[in-house]
Amino acid sequence: MITPPWDLGDLVVKFVPVLGTLVLLGAIVQVVLGFQVAGGSDVLVGPHILFGLIGLILVVGLTAIAFRTKTSTLYSKITIIVLTVVVLLQIALGFQLLNGAEAMVPSHEMNGLLIVVLALVTGGITSMNARKQETQTA
Ligand code: HEM
Repeated sequence: MITPPWDLGDLVVKFVPVLGTLVLLGAIVQVVLGFQVAGGSDVLVGPHILFGLIGLILVVGLTAIAFRTKTSTLYSKITIIVLTVVVLLQIALGFQLLNGAEAMVPSHEMNGLLIVVLALVTGGITSMNARKQETQTA
């Protein structure tokens, strides 16, 4: 069998914290952008949608990694799945808002804050696991 020149395990260890941090920072930026859009900055609608879609791709990527990594725990798998579903819902709500469903604004706002909290929780669980495994293998 041909083996690739890079080790997938190494790549995962290096990039998961970077991707996780990007998701968290992106979610915070999205909440700020969202309030600006709601305040009347129409030019920011484009970036707000784009960041939302990039966020979805990142979260789906992290989910794929969580399910392929043997050391990931049930808790990290559950939180990342919940995060993916909530981000999907947020994008659906966002498109409803674009179509004029003003009544959805509070749900979109609450869901946005929930995404920030879940991104923090996912990051916390992942780094706790990583530290535990480091002390076990050391
Ligand atoms: C993870 C991604 C997202 C987060 C965290 C987020 C968060 C927010 C927040 C906090 C607001 C302010 C709501 C308020 O007035 O209190 C907002 C507004 C808005 N968002 Fe998002 N959003 C996301 C994705 C999207 C997407 C993908 C779309 C469009 C497809 C979208 C469309 C809108 C629109 C149109 C508004 C303005 C609502 C209004 O008319 O007041 N959002 N967003």
